[in-house]
Amino acid sequence: MSLNGLFGPLNPPIKEWRNQRVWLVGASSGIGAALARELARRGARIAVSARREQSLHDVLDEVGGGPDQRPDQRPFDALVLPLDVTNAGALAAARDAIVAAWGGVDVVIWLAALWVPMRADNFDLAAARRTIEINQIGALNLLAAVLPVLLDQGRGQLVLTASVAGWGGMPKALAYGQTKAALNHLAETLWIDLNPRGIGVAVVNPGFVDTPATATNTFTMPALISADEAALRILAGISAGEFNIHFPRRFTGVLKFLRLLPIRCWFAVIRRTTGL
Ligand SMILES: NC(=O)c1ccc[n+]([C@@H]2O[C@H](COP(=O)([O-])OP(=O)(O)OC[C@H]3O[C@@H](n4cnc5c(N)ncnc54)[C@H](OP(=O)(O)O)[C@@H]3O)[C@@H](O)[C@H]2O)c1
Repeated sequence: MSLNGLFGPLNPPIKEWRNQRVWLVGASSGIGAALARELARRGARIAVSARREQSLHDVLDEVGGGPDQRPDQRPFDALVLPLDVTNAGALAAARDAIVAAWGGVDVVIWLAALWVPMRADNFDLAAARRTIEINQIGALNLLAAVLPVLLDQGRGQLVLTASVAGWGGMPKALAYGQTKAALNHLAETLWIDLNPRGIGVAVVNPGFVDTPATATNTFTMPALISADEAALRILAGISAGEFNIHFPRRFTGVLKFLRLLPIRCWFAVIRRTTGL
């Protein structure tokens, strides 16, 4: 393996966001909304998807001159494509709309997720199934929609948002954690297949981010950062061609180190620090 293979970027770095065609799936709130606002400011062309259509418009209005500004007079190009990720046909239709409007797509960022805190003593099969349906099957629905386009283009990038909850067992993550572990595995396997075809694949593993999803958490979230900070870190990671974009490093670095130790160390530290 060459030195570049050992130390160089694992994906084609994206240095300039202006005119990049970016599809954000899960952009009506939290990190996805922050990414949409930041990308719009940087002049990217953004397609935003989630179920709440009005929230998607509100996100664009925040950077586009307010609700009275006509969409065709906004300083950036945007498509609002509301959908439910559990509906594979809806994702395919949105893909078609993007290709019809822009001729292709440069970056696809998966952010949609359901977080239902769950432990063994309140196990809820229906909620667990729903979590898998959105977080995991939803991502596969997106893959089915975009892989043919990316492969046909022979370029582009796919970014899957997972979580540090997928790196190891954590309290309350009984349903959520396994879906995020699956996304980490999925991203690695996709990279192996897509890198030789000129297509980038990255996985995002945030620590705790202040968003509507975490607003109901009743425990103290260590190293909590804002959604805007998370968005900047994700864009910096993509720009640098990183495969595993994880942050904040003061938190994720410790978790990564713990994973290198015997599992009893992970159990002990997680139990002691969370008190859960
Ligand atoms: N916040 C954190 O601390 C944290 C930590 C690690 C990882 N993450 C990950 O970061 C990503 C963004 O999370 P967030 O914290 O920003 O949460 P959020 O504010 O709740 O955003 C979740 C997004 O997913 C969309 N979504 C959920 N179900 C959907 C469905 N069935 N179809 C289409 N869209 C759907 C939501 O839109 P609609 O409701 O409008 O559909 C929303 O736009 C998630 O993948 C999450 O797991 C977050």
